Amino acid sequence: MTTRPIRPRRSTLAVPGSNPKMIDKARGLHVDAVFLDLEDACAPAAKAAGRKNIIEALREGGFGEKIRTVRVNDWTTPWTYRDVIDVVEGAGAQLDCIMLPKVQDAAQVHALDMLLTQIEKSHGLEVGRIGIEVQIETASGLIALDAIAQASPRIETLIFGPADFMASIQMKSLTVGEQPPGYDVGDAYHHILMSILMAARAHGKQAIDGPYLAIKDLDGLGRVAGRAAALGFDGKWVLHPTQVDLINETFSPSQDDYDHAENILDAYAWCTSEAGGSRGAAMLGDEMIDEASRKMALVIAGKGRAAGMKRATVWQPPE
Ligand code: GLV
Ligand code: MG
Repeated sequence: MTTRPIRPRRSTLAVPGSNPKMIDKARGLHVDAVFLDLEDACAPAAKAAGRKNIIEALREGGFGEKIRTVRVNDWTTPWTYRDVIDVVEGAGAQLDCIMLPKVQDAAQVHALDMLLTQIEKSHGLEVGRIGIEVQIETASGLIALDAIAQASPRIETLIFGPADFMASIQMKSLTVGEQPPGYDVGDAYHHILMSILMAARAHGKQAIDGPYLAIKDLDGLGRVAGRAAALGFDGKWVLHPTQVDLINETFSPSQDDYDHAENILDAYAWCTSEAGGSRGAAMLGDEMIDEASRKMALVIAGKGRAAGMKRATVWQPPE
């Protein structure tokens, strides 16, 4: 498993690379990550101008602590190599990741990795610093997930692309992320989300859910995001400022869960210590805790710490 440190992304804002006003607005939003898009939100005739805007915007800066990603076009188009070369040569030092859409197999990730390595070497950039975000949005991509997830140590995220995925499997629906009408026996996306999550966890990557297109429907967004968060996904895309707070909140633990997790960690550290009797299992209130409880608590506490949460209650050992 790779040890590349991966910064958490609860919210990733999608911004068309061809729209300098929207890029500017993105600078002030409270998202963890921003991706400037040269793919589907950038019309074919606007790709060249989009590259220029993106290079200028990255060089100008002002994105604070946000992770800065550029989504290039996929390898089946004529645009990928030019996207990568222009953007990384023009603003490689101001860029954190390249997002590769519609990844179908490991070879497509290798190709991007090799191109990045050559550009980094020839421009004096630190080799391997720029990460790769992989979009899984085709049937082939899902089938090849395990190999894709291991294809490069640069990979930071595996991202579900629901719109393209629905098209790829010919789902009979036009509403992105919602259950297809007529399917009334469970969650039509469960297998896909779980497969992405398994590959992400097996290989130490973040699992990210893609966009929810009905931007005025915050109830729908909350429902769909809540499912992904409950499974263990790390975050979701946002397309509009109104979606940001809900997504940040949905992918952070509740205050009660955060306090509970930190208290389990403290209580378990004490019980396993000599002062606490060197016990491997103990009671915290009415609940039995052991090493597995500690691991679960670490996950929730980690998400809360990454979100900058503060404890409201602190467990104390018995007198
Ligand atoms: C995102 O790229 C999607 O296809 O949903
Ligand atoms: Mg897509």
